[in-house]
Amino acid sequence: MSIQSQGGQKTAASNIAPATGKLGVMVVGLGAVSTTLIAGVEAVRRGLAKPIGSLTQMGTIRIGKRTDNNSPYIRDFVPLAKLNDVVFTAWDLFEDSAYEAAAHASVLNDKMLAELKPYLETIKPMPAVFDQYYVKRLNGTHIKHGKTKRELADQLIADIRAFKKTVDRVVVLWAASTEIFLEPTAVHQTIESFEKGLETNDIGIASSQIYAYAALSEAVPFVNGAPNLTVDIPALVALSKKNAAPIAGKDFKTGQTLMKTILAPAFKARLLGVRGWFSTNILGNRDGEVLDDPQSFKTKEESKLGSLDYIFEPEKYPDLYKDVYHKIRINYYPPRGDDKEAWDNIDLFGWLGYPMQLKVNFLCRDSILAAPVALDLVLFMDLAKRTPELQSIGIQEWLSFYLKSPQTAVGLKPEHDLFIQSMKLKNTLRHIAGAELVTHLGLEYYD
Ligand SMILES: NC(=O)c1ccc[n+]([C@@H]2O[C@H](COP(=O)([O-])OP(=O)(O)OC[C@H]3O[C@@H](n4cnc5c(N)ncnc54)[C@H](O)[C@@H]3O)[C@@H](O)[C@H]2O)c1
Repeated sequence: MSIQSQGGQKTAASNIAPATGKLGVMVVGLGAVSTTLIAGVEAVRRGLAKPIGSLTQMGTIRIGKRTDNNSPYIRDFVPLAKLNDVVFTAWDLFEDSAYEAAAHASVLNDKMLAELKPYLETIKPMPAVFDQYYVKRLNGTHIKHGKTKRELADQLIADIRAFKKTVDRVVVLWAASTEIFLEPTAVHQTIESFEKGLETNDIGIASSQIYAYAALSEAVPFVNGAPNLTVDIPALVALSKKNAAPIAGKDFKTGQTLMKTILAPAFKARLLGVRGWFSTNILGNRDGEVLDDPQSFKTKEESKLGSLDYIFEPEKYPDLYKDVYHKIRINYYPPRGDDKEAWDNIDLFGWLGYPMQLKVNFLCRDSILAAPVALDLVLFMDLAKRTPELQSIGIQEWLSFYLKSPQTAVGLKPEHDLFIQSMKLKNTLRHIAGAELVTHLGLEYYD
């Protein structure tokens, strides 16, 4: 691999396979996030709006020294699929087309929806693999039937194979509802035990894991936008490696947790102590309705709780972060729809222990924040699949930037600090493209 100079601009040459042809994106769940993603991609393609929030579409990457003035767009630096080459299909347990689902989610305004209607109406979901045991608040009839989970997995595999015939590469994206809290059991330990569990309908295998198994069996990358256990089990990590089908962590990092992983590293960098962090949310979309069920809420709560402890490292800084009282509430409040409101109250303390408070009130739009994250994850996972150095390592830890619960190799502490995650992501791109890493040391400017 080498860096070549072309007309004064340095570009990377590497052994990453080019992104030729169509990229098929199979979305599990045609709800608020996925319809905002699909409609958004089409709106950008037609020049109706800009892909704000997406690193793959708008981000740049510095190459070489600051004095080199070489900061190409990421999309020009590494070979990413072009939006014009992205093709969507979906599964859902409701028959609504992407247009009807987007109208129901009411994230996008009527004018934009009307313009995109002819396109969105063409995306009709395939029947889902769904079992209400794992998502109590939903009940749909557009579902696949099979005697065993193995049969259901085979039906999904047939869907993936059929779609593969129409495109050049595929990524599966879970943007479906949050399932009940599950912990790994014996069935999740090896590919063999998992496959046996599919045959025997093991209760430990949730619907999301049947999709993930189908995708990974077909050597297709799998992105998990929800906090479900899904691929965070040894069996599916092994399958991911075996079939060169990348996976990453889980749960899109969008509103409150994004802010948390920005603020907490700042407190820690300045050694400001924290006594308590109270986070509350109101939201009224279907996701909020599903999370109103205590078992689904527990899955989300666990995912949201993790970040602070990892960032603060109370074992290293007991004077600052021992016993931080961290509380998270999510309340379903229909009048707000997708326009979530989050409040954070942080009780912190400074020099000599004197107390202070910080209040954060984020009036965000859940799916508007999630759509570019989903897009970047899909495009970067497709890049990983075409990159010899990344395709067979399984977990793509460099994509932790986008996820509330980063997944790591066994025994490795996950990195939650957004700025470290951002540096890791960009250095991974530099590395796979054969460019020098940027360490921000900067002594060379003072020689
Ligand atoms: N919006 C955000 O900021 C954000 C952030 C992090 C995570 N998430 C997660 O992303 C997921 C999607 O969020 P949303 O707001 O679009 O929810 P949503 O309720 O609008 O959409 C989810 C869709 O998934 C479908 N579904 C559920 N189980 C399915 C299955 N087994 N197969 C196929 N379809 C299935 C539902 O019918 C629904 O249409 C949720 O798990 C949510 O927790 C969202």
